Amino acid sequence: MASRMPSHSAILSKSLRASFQCLHRRPAQSLTPVQRQLQRRNISAYGYEQAKALTFPEYGDPPSVLSLHSHSISPAHGNLMTLRFLASPINPADINQIQGVYPSKPRFTTSLSTAAPIAVAGNEGVAEIIALGDKVKGEGFKRGDWVIMNGPGFGTWRTHASAETKDVVKLEEAARQGITPIQAGTVSINPCTAYRMLKDFVSLQPGEWFIQNGANSGVGRAAIQLGKQWGLKSINVIRARDDKAKEDKLKQELKDLGADVVITDVELQAQGIRDQAKEWTSGGREPIRLALNCVNGKAATAMAKLLASESHFVTYGAMSKQPLTIPASMLIFKDIHFHGFWVSKWANGNVEGKKKTVEDVLGLIREGKFKDTPTEVINWEWETKGEDLIAKVKDTLEGYREGKGVFVFGKT
Ligand SMILES: NC(=O)c1ccc[n+]([C@@H]2O[C@H](COP(=O)([O-])OP(=O)(O)OC[C@H]3O[C@@H](n4cnc5c(N)ncnc54)[C@H](OP(=O)(O)O)[C@@H]3O)[C@@H](O)[C@H]2O)c1
Repeated sequence: MASRMPSHSAILSKSLRASFQCLHRRPAQSLTPVQRQLQRRNISAYGYEQAKALTFPEYGDPPSVLSLHSHSISPAHGNLMTLRFLASPINPADINQIQGVYPSKPRFTTSLSTAAPIAVAGNEGVAEIIALGDKVKGEGFKRGDWVIMNGPGFGTWRTHASAETKDVVKLEEAARQGITPIQAGTVSINPCTAYRMLKDFVSLQPGEWFIQNGANSGVGRAAIQLGKQWGLKSINVIRARDDKAKEDKLKQELKDLGADVVITDVELQAQGIRDQAKEWTSGGREPIRLALNCVNGKAATAMAKLLASESHFVTYGAMSKQPLTIPASMLIFKDIHFHGFWVSKWANGNVEGKKKTVEDVLGLIREGKFKDTPTEVINWEWETKGEDLIAKVKDTLEGYREGKGVFVFGKT
């Protein structure tokens, strides 16, 4: 077992450090069961948990501002619990947050034993409770429970954290049954966003159509699958690939998830698309009444043009970094209703609704009716170097990826 030293030793007394090192040097057979457990978890005899986190001292380009920071967490007491993270994804919003262009700001703090404030990156993830104070026990939590974050800004790209009950939502035993850490760690943002957007803007009946761009994104894949479950039909727009074989493979992948039609942004903007759409929708007798947009630019406007009068167009992302341009005629003559959606804001006022939405999706996963979004697992062990983790974050800044980067925590 690799030994490790607390980097912020200032907060540990000399004797505490001695006991920590002593525990790590002794062969396992000479330890008591409790000491053996502590050694396995790499905590000091006094219960100080050693933690590492990807943090940033200021907003900027993620590879430039991120660094791996080590610190100690004091034993859980009162209303505090100690979490050990299991899986945390790298979502586009996490990148925007580090860049300082996301509306939800992280907490810059010196509580992780730094002279100047730093913030922990990451907004989504699942963690297990490894220690808890009496008040937390009194609220129905126990060791081994899995929790997801209650809202953005907590900082999930870290091995461990100290949290209060208000920071987390517990995944009940039944909801967690048969669910992997990656599934639990990626359920609360993208699938919830797709779920709410399909349900909350217009009441689509089985057999009705929606159209979406960014269809191969986590949200897009979730929308395809939820829509299929609910009997909806979908037209799905992806970005064209230079490599036609790859493009065809991606189209087929989305059809296998339940997409009725998959086209590229180039095909969407080509002449004759209206006639084509009529063909798909039984000569236009099946109106397309909802559009989901996370891209913007000309391709989003082209998507809006396929909507029936009085339909709803929901914007929830801005991947192309282009503005959304709406011809006045769409408002005046077609009365298309344009909305924005932000799942964090929705969840703020819907704590129970979020829990129910998460449980519904986990239920579909358990029944084999909802496939995971493709992921690139980024293993994070105690010894993993900061530069390797940051290089993986940098990779996610590129488009045309085959899978979402997810930190999966091993022996931490
Ligand atoms: N408002 C909300 O509550 C909410 C919640 C969740 C997510 N979101 C937003 O939803 C979007 C998708 O998030 P996600 O986590 O599902 O994504 P993801 O799985 O990480 O996938 C990224 C998606 O963005 C596309 N993309 C990347 N660069 C692009 C560009 N320059 N122009 C057009 N498309 C581009 C990718 O297409 P390629 O494969 O072609 O690169 C892919 O479809 C993001 O904008 C995110 O911020 C919003």
